[in-house]
Amino acid sequence: MKYDIKDLKLAKKGKLRIEWARQNMPVLDFIEERFRRQKPLKGLRLAACLHVTTETANLMRVLKTGGAEVYLCASNPLSTQDDVAASLVKDLKIPVFSIKGEDNKIYYQHIKAVLDAKPDITMDDGADLVSIIHKEGKLNPLGGTEETTTGVIRLRAMENDGVLKCPIIAVNDAETKHLFDNRYGTGQSTLDGIIRATNRLIAGLYVVVCGYGWCGKGVAMRSKGMGAKVIVVEVDPVRGLEANMDGFQVMTIADASKIGDIFISLTGDINVIRREHFAKMKNGAIVANSGHFNVELDIDGLKKISKNRRVIREFVEEYTLPNGRVICLLAEGRLINLAAAEGHPAQVMDMSFANQALSAEYIKNNYKKLENKVYKIPEDMDKNIARLKLKSLGIKIDTLTPQQKKYLASWQEGT
Ligand code: ADE
Repeated sequence: MKYDIKDLKLAKKGKLRIEWARQNMPVLDFIEERFRRQKPLKGLRLAACLHVTTETANLMRVLKTGGAEVYLCASNPLSTQDDVAASLVKDLKIPVFSIKGEDNKIYYQHIKAVLDAKPDITMDDGADLVSIIHKEGKLNPLGGTEETTTGVIRLRAMENDGVLKCPIIAVNDAETKHLFDNRYGTGQSTLDGIIRATNRLIAGLYVVVCGYGWCGKGVAMRSKGMGAKVIVVEVDPVRGLEANMDGFQVMTIADASKIGDIFISLTGDINVIRREHFAKMKNGAIVANSGHFNVELDIDGLKKISKNRRVIREFVEEYTLPNGRVICLLAEGRLINLAAAEGHPAQVMDMSFANQALSAEYIKNNYKKLENKVYKIPEDMDKNIARLKLKSLGIKIDTLTPQQKKYLASWQEGT
């Protein structure tokens, strides 16, 4: 299989939706303009394993405009927007290996298909490309980028074990990424996914948010805004305290499982909601995952304690427990914001993907100096993306006066 040729009728729909997203991606546009003139990625083969969305399509075009030969596969079996994949193949001639709803076997075949291109640079969302490259030991890319918290955690573990074989730029660590994409993007799109899947009113419900990182903070904030009574579950004492002083109830998952109406896990860890918690839930409780992998929910445990299950509407599977209560699992525990909705809106992906495009250029220019480590984005790059975003929004900020600069640089008291 070379690559999936999509239903070409879908491509027209995808093309228009990609254009719609582009209207809110001015920073990426600005980068594309320079890439068109300078072709900084010329001669590079770039393999991307990202959610195949309208926003990703805009990034793929920018990388191609910069001179890269681009190959794309999905970073989750349920997150592909097939019309977007079709348009990328037809209109931009970018090989795309993904289809919404692919099973695990096809998912990994598609990852291997982009690796057959022998990429110089990898662009991951969850570290699947890099981990397979390391398992197989056949390729030696110049470097890679990583989009998400879970991927950065995996890659730092590889670095700590001394097995990482190329430098990685942790896009997720850029302030212009996680403060906006993780917080406001996940906050809105997770609720969007839950609402599209269930059509439930959020107001008045107990929403249990497991994990109070940037993603959890966003979901808690937006759930509160929609009238939910929010309960936060944490393992980190500082975050637990932070959630408490942000005005949320904080308790263990064992206690929260008896109270919640909607459960959302976003921790990056495994088995956060386990069978003993499902067993205590109220009739009709809704359970969703918005962390990168569906391992956050003990779905096997839920299956084992259930006597029946049925899909009652798209993305909603009811599990009936022996006590007669029903638990509603959304989107097979996959990322709810991408499976049942469209992922984060373009306004935040603009900054995340500006970081991706500039990181690819940074690797090309600096790989000889870089060690096999996970690097933060250079601070000036991060600030520059924020400046461009502010400019596109027509927002002006102040600059320090020479006197203020001098004051901040001095250690003496007073003036
Ligand atoms: N991750 C979350 N939302 C996304 C989007 N819209 N596109 C690509 N990756 C995403």
